[in-house]
Amino acid sequence: MAFSTLITEKDGNIALIKLNRPEAMNAFNHQLMDELTEAIDKFEADPEIGCLIITGSSKAFAAGADIKEMQELSYMDAYYRDFITSNWERTTRCRKPVIAAVSGYALGGGCELAMMCDFILAADNAKFGQPEITIGVSPGAGGTQRLTRFVGKSKAMEMCLTGRMMDAKEAERCGLVSRIVTADNLLEEAKSVAKKIAGMPRAAAMMTKEMVNAAYETPLSHGVRFERRLFHSLFGTEDQQEGMNAFVEKRTPHFKNK
Ligand code: CAA
Repeated sequence: MAFSTLITEKDGNIALIKLNRPEAMNAFNHQLMDELTEAIDKFEADPEIGCLIITGSSKAFAAGADIKEMQELSYMDAYYRDFITSNWERTTRCRKPVIAAVSGYALGGGCELAMMCDFILAADNAKFGQPEITIGVSPGAGGTQRLTRFVGKSKAMEMCLTGRMMDAKEAERCGLVSRIVTADNLLEEAKSVAKKIAGMPRAAAMMTKEMVNAAYETPLSHGVRFERRLFHSLFGTEDQQEGMNAFVEKRTPHFKNK
């Protein structure tokens, strides 16, 4: 499948989606978001794929929504086209694990897309920010909500009200990213983590993702009950039998994703 704003690659059981608008620091125009939706649809439907990576270039994961495309947008255009809702949020509905591998700028919508992924691996040159206020708007793809849940009110409020960027170390300290690796190693490390996840029993990985995400949406007692139900259901899989048998027999498990 040929895309003009993305480069996609399948590597065994993992998929790599590289945002590719170098002339605009990977800013998200309508076409890129349509293509990203299509790419995720394709990899989600591919039974071989167990984990996806979304990345950008070494300079920019993405510098946010395309300001040149948004410049003339009126309220009525935004409302009737259902800007953002119409094609930006496919990542949040991907049932397979998705890793954001962030190098360079992840600003505005770029930071928001990274936060839509399941976790963020950051290169040591990564910079995160929600600078929308400096151009007269606000975050519009979940930034005020997701950033606050990641880093707490005080830091989210400061970031969104001043538009300042945080570097990778600060992002790791405050829980926005899972880990920092050197920029040169980012892709290699992301692929190695993705392969590890893709090698896990598929249903257990997909359900675990659902459980962790439920922590954002439910009170504790409901979340724990949801976890318990899915946990119970995993005892209906062949992979549970295989995983536990292999442990007891001191051998490597052979999962069939069944
Ligand atoms: N939209 C469109 N074009 C962009 C862009 C964006 N978000 N970000 C960068 N570009 C373009 C620049 O216009 C420039 O193009 P030209 O060469 O044609 O002039 C090219 O990319 C390179 O950018 P710079 O020359 O600015 O590069 P720099 O290294 O000096 O600065 C930067 C890099 C700090 C990322 C800077 O480009 C910048 O601040 N970009 C805008 C960031 C921003 O405000 N993002 C929020 C967008 S709004 C949003 O995302 C809304 C939402 O929540 C949904």
